[in-house]
Amino acid sequence: MQLFLDTANIDEIRQGAELGVISGVTTNPSLAAQEGIGAAAGYRAAVQEIADIIDGPISVEVVSTDAAGMIAEGRDIAEWIPNPWVKIPSTAEGFKAIAALARDGIRVNQTLVFSVNQALLGANAGSTVVSPFVGRLDDIGQDGIALVADIVAVYQKQNVATQVMAASIRGPRHCVLAAQAGAPISTIPYNVLTQMIKHPLTDAGLARFLQDWQQASGG
Ligand code: E4P
Repeated sequence: MQLFLDTANIDEIRQGAELGVISGVTTNPSLAAQEGIGAAAGYRAAVQEIADIIDGPISVEVVSTDAAGMIAEGRDIAEWIPNPWVKIPSTAEGFKAIAALARDGIRVNQTLVFSVNQALLGANAGSTVVSPFVGRLDDIGQDGIALVADIVAVYQKQNVATQVMAASIRGPRHCVLAAQAGAPISTIPYNVLTQMIKHPLTDAGLARFLQDWQQASGG
């Protein structure tokens, strides 16, 4: 399972890239706003900086709600960086935009996916990836990972080329479950990445190795 970083924070992206385990980045208007990025020009500059750090797909979300606006934004975003995935929401206007952008050869990350039916519609419209939001479904008492597993199973059964990216990941356990469900990609916040690394037995084991080595070396 590939890991993408779900952040617009340049320091986090730099640190994630240094680890050598990150294959792409996803952003959204909320994540950009958290970093003080607002206007389209600021978003473009930030996305270009991210693309200089990460040699992989960078997801950039449109903010229009009508198909014509989304298509215009998507075509613009596609010119910003070498490997853009335009994020389009799972709405009626969104599906029109996905179909138009896909016809242009622009890759689309279909966002705000909360049902298998939305994923089926996206596959037909030409989405490159669909992003089921695991944590937000869990938040309302539903099973986000079950949705990931259902979309993966249906896509496999139907030989669909669209990929599944588990999104709205809230902790390391979600990563394990998304991988077990067969998601080829998960996009994760930086704090989840650091939690994936840590294990107390690794730290204790390393301290013990170094202590034993020092003793054997007369230190
Ligand atoms: C990713 O594409 C989404 O924008 C993101 O994972 C949403 O996560 P959240 O539900 O924690 O805001």
